[in-house]
Amino acid sequence: MDQATFIEKYATNRQHTNSLKWDALDERYGNPDLIAMWVADMEFKVPEAVTTALTNRIAHGIYGYSYTPDSYYQAFFNWEQQRHQLHLEKDWIRFGTGVVNSLYALVNTYTRPGDAVLILTPVYYPFFDAVKDNHRQLVTSELYNDQGHYTIDFDDVERQIKAHEVRLFIQCSPHNPVGRIWTEAEETRLLALCEQYGVLVVSDEIHQDLEIDPQNHPFRSALTVADRRFEDNVIVVNAPSKTFNMATLLNSHVIIPNSKLRQQYDAYMTRVNQTETNVLGQTAGQAAYTDGAEWLDHILAIVRSNYQYLKTTLAEKAPKIVVAELQGTYLTWLDIRPYVKPEYTREFIIDKCGLAVDFGEWFSANDQGFVRLNLATDPKYVHQAVANITTCLAQLTQND
Ligand SMILES: Cc1ncc(COP(=O)(O)O)c(C=O)c1O
Repeated sequence: MDQATFIEKYATNRQHTNSLKWDALDERYGNPDLIAMWVADMEFKVPEAVTTALTNRIAHGIYGYSYTPDSYYQAFFNWEQQRHQLHLEKDWIRFGTGVVNSLYALVNTYTRPGDAVLILTPVYYPFFDAVKDNHRQLVTSELYNDQGHYTIDFDDVERQIKAHEVRLFIQCSPHNPVGRIWTEAEETRLLALCEQYGVLVVSDEIHQDLEIDPQNHPFRSALTVADRRFEDNVIVVNAPSKTFNMATLLNSHVIIPNSKLRQQYDAYMTRVNQTETNVLGQTAGQAAYTDGAEWLDHILAIVRSNYQYLKTTLAEKAPKIVVAELQGTYLTWLDIRPYVKPEYTREFIIDKCGLAVDFGEWFSANDQGFVRLNLATDPKYVHQAVANITTCLAQLTQND
């Protein structure tokens, strides 16, 4: 199927479907008519095999208590093994109703109020909430930004760990919003530092499959780096939901290879969580892992071409905007400060450009003037968004 046919078949208008991204624009941004480029979900229907599996399950008409079949584990494990050389075992897996929910549980399991938890900023904002809402001490280390290429400031990470006696590190891999996939060398150095200082690592790998240039920037799970050397000090959270656009089917994984850590997690969860797994989420997940690879290839090709279009058009028409290198995720991170005063960003983007985006200050107090745009969408929206930005910038410069 060529790209145009895929878009024709799968791209969908989401207005009037209770979509947070499209139908909450008035409430969130004060204008219902913006182009929605925020929230990380897509304007594409799930793979046809997922719709078929769900339709068949729904036709059965019964949603009584169920359990996770071996076929689910098999489909999930094959996917991880084939795409990421990640070997998993059934014992290690716990199910969750969303990765963010699990981050909260993991913070509560492995730290106490007042303990220090480290995150690398700018980062997906619920990381801040998971620490602060649970009354833990938030410790941040700012990534180093070299013209849109972000790297880890290892000296600062070590300083922060020592100064605050950090207990837990929540890592984002691939990193939302800066688009990095950490190299084996970076990941090894980071995990070695954590091991050295007794810092437990929770690795949020929900974007694992969204590799933009896998030849040059392959994703590696924190569980596999350095020949699995850090496996006993790492917990991975992931899900089929970001890859296959099914966030509200509420099915995610917590992967804990170390048995002692697993016991601690189970002991905590026994007290706070007695929910069942979600039968529709698992039906969809199994079908996606089994038959979704080709659909994902199409999605990645669209994200790649949307990114190329945005990057080359901005380079031509607004060359001072810094577009972060996109290695992983479908989210592009732009620094528009060379043209727009940081405090004027919201007004410029919402009122002038007609766009709903994620704003930089949501990801780091220092990043007002950055915006994050979602590229897992119909190219027509990306073209319109880029046109609006370049036209409005031209008007700004004329008025200067
Ligand atoms: C890094 C990261 N973690 C978690 C989530 C959300 O996961 P969930 O919907 O399973 O809570 C997102 C969504 O964009 C994300 O970017």
